[in-house]
Amino acid sequence: MDKSNKRIVLVTGATGGLGTAMCKKLHKDGFHVVGNYHTKEKAEKWMHQMKSEGFDIELFHGDVSDFDSAGDMIREIESKVGTIDTLVNNAGITRDGRLINMKKEDWYAVINTNLNSVFNCTKHVIQGMIDRNFGRIINISSVNGQRGQFGQTNYSAAKAGMHGFTKSLAMEVAKYGVTVNTISPGYIGTDMVMAVPEKVLNQIVAQVPMGRLGGTHEVAHLVSFLASEETSFITGANYSINGGQHVY
Ligand code: CAA
Repeated sequence: MDKSNKRIVLVTGATGGLGTAMCKKLHKDGFHVVGNYHTKEKAEKWMHQMKSEGFDIELFHGDVSDFDSAGDMIREIESKVGTIDTLVNNAGITRDGRLINMKKEDWYAVINTNLNSVFNCTKHVIQGMIDRNFGRIINISSVNGQRGQFGQTNYSAAKAGMHGFTKSLAMEVAKYGVTVNTISPGYIGTDMVMAVPEKVLNQIVAQVPMGRLGGTHEVAHLVSFLASEETSFITGANYSINGGQHVY
């Protein structure tokens, strides 16, 4: 909670397409939002842009793929702003390519940034949430963690791993008022998705029954829902938001 009794939410990878939409929606819904960034130049521009749109959202530096850096960032937020009530593990990257061509660096970069980051950040907030009897951990996975994707052995493995983490931690902390859930977005209109070769992306969208990419605001709405007080009985769940691309 901050000084005015607002729940504090930390969104990792806040300056990306999904992160930005989440920050804005959570801010509009009355949360005290803080974001994490990795690249300084992008962060300064982002904060300036947010301010001009009326959003008061402070960014904190940290490399979430590094345990100590994530810890330093969380301690800084807790000393300057207050204790974190909701953690949105959103930071993620792609290094697509068939396994036959994949470099060792591409494997480790994706596992470290997309999966180890979930451990690195959650580990530093979970004890406080247990002590205060309230917490929300929201892990942003992907449809490609649920079904696999040609060219994404690294990304699919990391995203599937996130939900394994969700299910196990959900059981461990359920009795302390802490919920842990996964959101698995399909193809959303972000820079990350728009970097997929046009021909390949057109083929993917053709497989989506809704026939379109998702909007970042649609995922942000689900994040804010899961961060709310009223979702206290939802834990260990995996919310698909993919326009019907993968149903099971
Ligand atoms: N299924 C089966 N075969 C496929 C295929 C598919 N989906 N895609 C390509 N192939 C075949 C090709 O036909 C080709 O076969 P031939 O050699 O017999 O002609 C062979 O595989 C090689 O194809 P490419 O030359 O395209 O392979 P590449 O190694 O150069 O490129 C790739 C592979 C980089 C992975 C490219 O296919 C690609 O970018 N795919 C998109 C991956 C994707 O969806 N990424 C999502 C990013 S966004 C995101 O991840 C957000 C989220 O959560 C959804």
